[in-house]
Amino acid sequence: MVVTDGTHFSKATQFDLRTYLATRQEQVEAALDRSLPVVYPEQIYEAMRYSLLAGGKRLRPILCLATCELAGGTISMALPTACALEMIHTMSLIHDDLPAMDNDDYRRGKLTNHKVFNEAVAILAGDGLLAFAFEHIAVETKDVAPDRLVKVIARLGRAVGAAGLVGGQVVDLHCEGVCDVKKETLDFIHAHKTAALLEASVVSGAILAGASEADLQRLTRYSQAIGLAFQIVDDVLDITSTQEELGKSVGKDLRAQKVTYPSFWGIDESKRQAQQLVEQAKSEVTVFGDRALPLMAIADFITARTN
Ligand code: FPP
Ligand code: MG
Repeated sequence: MVVTDGTHFSKATQFDLRTYLATRQEQVEAALDRSLPVVYPEQIYEAMRYSLLAGGKRLRPILCLATCELAGGTISMALPTACALEMIHTMSLIHDDLPAMDNDDYRRGKLTNHKVFNEAVAILAGDGLLAFAFEHIAVETKDVAPDRLVKVIARLGRAVGAAGLVGGQVVDLHCEGVCDVKKETLDFIHAHKTAALLEASVVSGAILAGASEADLQRLTRYSQAIGLAFQIVDDVLDITSTQEELGKSVGKDLRAQKVTYPSFWGIDESKRQAQQLVEQAKSEVTVFGDRALPLMAIADFITARTN
């Protein structure tokens, strides 16, 4: 299957990715908005909502909804987990942007959380979102057997902690300004900092729907490949894109002397490697036939995206 453009439908499959993403984004936005009303103490809820509702591709929740449907489940079964994934992703970006980490002023086209509120509130907004994500799954998920829910919560906990995002971020920060970073270290950073949450997004939807172990393995391989491709494209866009297009500062990797895929391979080879990973990801899910059309199209979207 070929999706020629990340936003237009593929003539080859007639799968209308643009409409699919828009519909799912709308569902996710509405659910996120409902999930977190402002109550006392208002400031922290406002800070949490400021970043949570700042837009974004909503790729992680959409992947979770897609794999739940692929494995025979429903959107409503997966919506609380989908929202939780976005809460976790958002909190990781709030903390990533803090002065103690990447010290960034813009995210999703808006001032970063600590710039609008303050550092202490931004740290607490991240903490609040992380805790609320797990509460939200446990309290709001309906019509899913408790053993599946426990598996999802465990998988997510692993993906965000030292075995996942936190571990990737700590090695990333440690390598900043270091010239002789090995390719294996770079792979470690991205497998943990970026791919771990994408993997949890893909796999959790399928767990909720009761997918077999073999299918979970296939989806895990799919998600690891798109996770790495996603990061390679991110690194390329940091060099080739503009602040207006990305909604965040560009050229940061060079300024911070970060070792990235383009610094190893150059831009063209990085793009080729990303494309190869996308093909690999798609080959993992062909066995699901038409049920995998959203996953195939989303894989293509990862390399075609401009933000
Ligand atoms: C963006 O990377 C940052 C991440 C993908 C994750 C960062 C992880 C943390 C701050 C740990 C969070 C804590 C928990 C408990 C999950 P980037 O800086 O390469 O990309 P950017 O250009 O979008 O900032
Ligand atoms: Mg950053």
